[in-house]
Amino acid sequence: MIFPENFVWGAATASYQIEGAVKEDGRGQSIWDTFSHAPGNVADGDTGDVACDHYHRYRDDVALMRELGLAAYRFSVAWPRIQPDGRGPANPRGLAFYDRLVDELLEAGISPYLTLYHWDLPQALEDRGGWANRDTAHRFAEYAAVVHDRLGDRVQNWATLNEPWVAAFLGYGNGVHAPGRKDPASAMRSAHHLLLGHGLAAARLREAGAASIMLVVNSSPVLTPAQVNDHEAVPDEADAAAVDRVHALLTRQFLDPALHGRYPEEVLAAAGRNGGTGHILDGDLEAINAPIDLIGINYYNPCVVEAGPGLPADAAWPGSEDIRFAPADAPVTAMGWPIVPDGLSRLLVRLSKDYPDVGLMVTENGAAFDDVVEDGRVHDADRVSFLRGHLREVGRAIEAGADLRGYLVWSLLDNFEWAEGYRRRFGIVHVDYATQARVLKDSALWYRDVIAANRL
Ligand code: FCB
Repeated sequence: MIFPENFVWGAATASYQIEGAVKEDGRGQSIWDTFSHAPGNVADGDTGDVACDHYHRYRDDVALMRELGLAAYRFSVAWPRIQPDGRGPANPRGLAFYDRLVDELLEAGISPYLTLYHWDLPQALEDRGGWANRDTAHRFAEYAAVVHDRLGDRVQNWATLNEPWVAAFLGYGNGVHAPGRKDPASAMRSAHHLLLGHGLAAARLREAGAASIMLVVNSSPVLTPAQVNDHEAVPDEADAAAVDRVHALLTRQFLDPALHGRYPEEVLAAAGRNGGTGHILDGDLEAINAPIDLIGINYYNPCVVEAGPGLPADAAWPGSEDIRFAPADAPVTAMGWPIVPDGLSRLLVRLSKDYPDVGLMVTENGAAFDDVVEDGRVHDADRVSFLRGHLREVGRAIEAGADLRGYLVWSLLDNFEWAEGYRRRFGIVHVDYATQARVLKDSALWYRDVIAANRL
């Protein structure tokens, strides 16, 4: 497989997962500081206080990226570094960090892909209702403009939100993520306000001259158990309906409003039964439908479902109480996530048909395994085979006509994996959290060769 000539190869991270330095240079508190410091929320009581200490080591980390030949680096800006209380004038020392990072990247010939929101909401905004409060959408658009104002002369590629489904439904639905609220109605409202924030921010960015604007979603192909290993398997009517509904709740809930200016019926029905639709105001869908250029896709595993008595209703899935989430017949990663590489090509081909007006980019794909350092090396053969398998499917999707612009591996570094803390390692670079030493895993060396050859 040879990739297209200008195919963008890179890696991704997120602010709270790598930066540390949570009290430095005027940074305000985020919902993840609060959440991780409350006992019982994160495995082993881990927090992002130090993380990979990237805030102090970004120069070395950019040097590693250069060594790997990355063309792109996707990072996120911590909103509470820029506006410690989520509103008002910018904190110049917070902006200065990203300014230095961007310059360092450009100096290394690496294009910055900047994500404005990767889940670290200023705690002050959560105290006023967080994403369940409509005002947060307006605050977000203002923040986007502030960041663009400082970095827009050098950053071309902008993403508004990372994975609004996760932010809304794990943050406000089942409470597994910050802010840890457990209320399906708040989750539905939050999803809408995240979308509104996206649309308002996209319009501000466009107005300010941003070259490329993207919305990043966690999408998965939704399959019945039989379809996991058999593309030809035809589900019965009840299973097919379950598949369609879960696809609507997971993916179309975000991409239909953003790209077609309307909600799927399944989403309106779920909202209707969970607090109502009164938070969707006239004009919102037009605002959400602001023009964008790319969909960013974070793919890890398929979503496997069938009709039938569900698990005890999971507040992360309002609207799917009569649907069963089933295991896939496939090997799993250390997260317990099934490894189904062709799920990626199935997904990309479908999204390129459903949303033909925008390009696609894989903004995250990767796996956690229990890596060990031996004689200064990490022989992560499982990760190499995971990445190879998925890149093959990226190639297939391109051959099938998907307008796929690039691929970013999750993650550059081992990091703070949210509720799992540091015990799950997703990096192609190993981090020793005691010494902050970095070691290129075999997967990093392999990826470097793929990038250099632009082929598998
Ligand atoms: C995604 C997140 C990312 C990382 C990976 C494993 O949902 O966007 O921050 O945690 O999962």
